[in-house]
Amino acid sequence: MIEKLKETAKFIESLTDVKPHLAIVFGSGLSSEELLDEITKKIPYREIPHLKTSTVQNHKGELVIGKRNGTNIYLFSGRMHYYEGYSAKEVTYPIRVMQYMGAKNLVLTNAAGGINPDFNAGDVILLKDHINMIPDHPLRGKNIDKLGTRFPDMSNAYNADIRKDFMEISKKTGYNLKQGIYLALQGPSLETPAEYSMIYRMGADLIGMSTVFETIAAVHGGIKVTGFSMVSNECYPPERIKETTHQDVVKMVKKSEHILMELLGEWIDNYL
Ligand code: HPA
Repeated sequence: MIEKLKETAKFIESLTDVKPHLAIVFGSGLSSEELLDEITKKIPYREIPHLKTSTVQNHKGELVIGKRNGTNIYLFSGRMHYYEGYSAKEVTYPIRVMQYMGAKNLVLTNAAGGINPDFNAGDVILLKDHINMIPDHPLRGKNIDKLGTRFPDMSNAYNADIRKDFMEISKKTGYNLKQGIYLALQGPSLETPAEYSMIYRMGADLIGMSTVFETIAAVHGGIKVTGFSMVSNECYPPERIKETTHQDVVKMVKKSEHILMELLGEWIDNYL
């Protein structure tokens, strides 16, 4: 694993001098490069040694390296998912590369179904916690002590200090930012009404198919995690459920992308 990471890092370093400080993963429908004021390099995932590529529509599969206000940023446009047939270890390989290259912060974004009856399609929600219900785990198998401890603590997985900063930022920008618990199932089918009701009873506010593996790997690796869900469809109570296609999800995410970008931009400029 360490050998592989070394090779991947060496390849990236042969193309740019910019080392990651902040890594951002953009999920379904998100692609905004405007967050960066300087783009140094764009590398398709398939050209990067040992990295898998995203097979999902509207997931670009491209690493965009650049800067904003002097902060070095690695922007992963599109991600790999468990439902694509990738293991939790493959899904989290980009996070390990970021750890190996010295990134200190990670922002994970996703499209999600809104379980909390107060959450509406178009809302941007700050993640405060997660529930992993995907039947795999990125730390399964022998622990690599060089990467992190065998039993990482998860009590502050979505960094509370950074969440405080985002709550303050949202007051400034005038956005009513709410926080929620994200539950991940493997997908790729969306859930039945009975499943959405189960997720509500389990105590989650959001449902999706990603993010939790990346959070676990980052916490294991000592990277601070921040997560955002873009609510694309309403899932509970059952009267709120509407038939939803992937196109509907992407359309809704696009609509609220500017809100997320404003929050992130302010954070990078004045808090990070
Ligand atoms: N379920 C799971 N994942 C999702 C959903 C959903 O309803 N909407 C967007 N991602």
